Amino acid sequence: MPDSLGKHSNKINLSKGELPMKKTLISSIAVAAVAIMGMASAPAYADVAKGEKIFKKCKACHTTESGGDNKIGPNLFGIVGRAAGTVDGFKYSDALMEAAAGGLVWDEANLDAFLKKPKKFIKKTKMSFGGIKKDGKRADLIEYLASLK
Ligand code: HEC
Repeated sequence: MPDSLGKHSNKINLSKGELPMKKTLISSIAVAAVAIMGMASAPAYADVAKGEKIFKKCKACHTTESGGDNKIGPNLFGIVGRAAGTVDGFKYSDALMEAAAGGLVWDEANLDAFLKKPKKFIKKTKMSFGGIKKDGKRADLIEYLASLK
């Protein structure tokens, strides 16, 4: 008898009692649902090249090369993992400096929340940008930002 069949009938015997088939079915659906949810949020699918294209929206205000100029916004080289409000020579808003004093670090989760809706994450930030609604696009963009090092 093939191994898989053996295991299968074993399982049913173990959970004998009330509706073993139904229970097994429900738990497999739960396992599948968790797996699908996991895939949707997995950063492994983020795409640096796509992120670079999305960054065109940011280029009017931000440079990305090491030591690049500050424009309307601060240089973003090495931004992922960096403490907020720390680019030399850039005059941040009071709102951003307050968040920085509170210990804000631009890890991927904080960047994700900020880029979704900047003025929701830091009320009164002077970054005039509406945000990027699509989760996948933000993931690509953050993957690109993480590559700037
Ligand atoms: C219209 C100009 C403008 C655009 C477009 C813009 N930003 Fe900004 N950005 C700013 C300004 C100004 C600040 C400083 C905010 C403050 O001090 O409140 C800033 C701050 C930031 C910071 C915090 C930097 C730090 O050192 O703490 C990040 C991260 C950032 N922007 C990322 C982006 C990304 C990514 C995009 C594109 C999706 C983008 N910005 C689009 C102007 C802009």
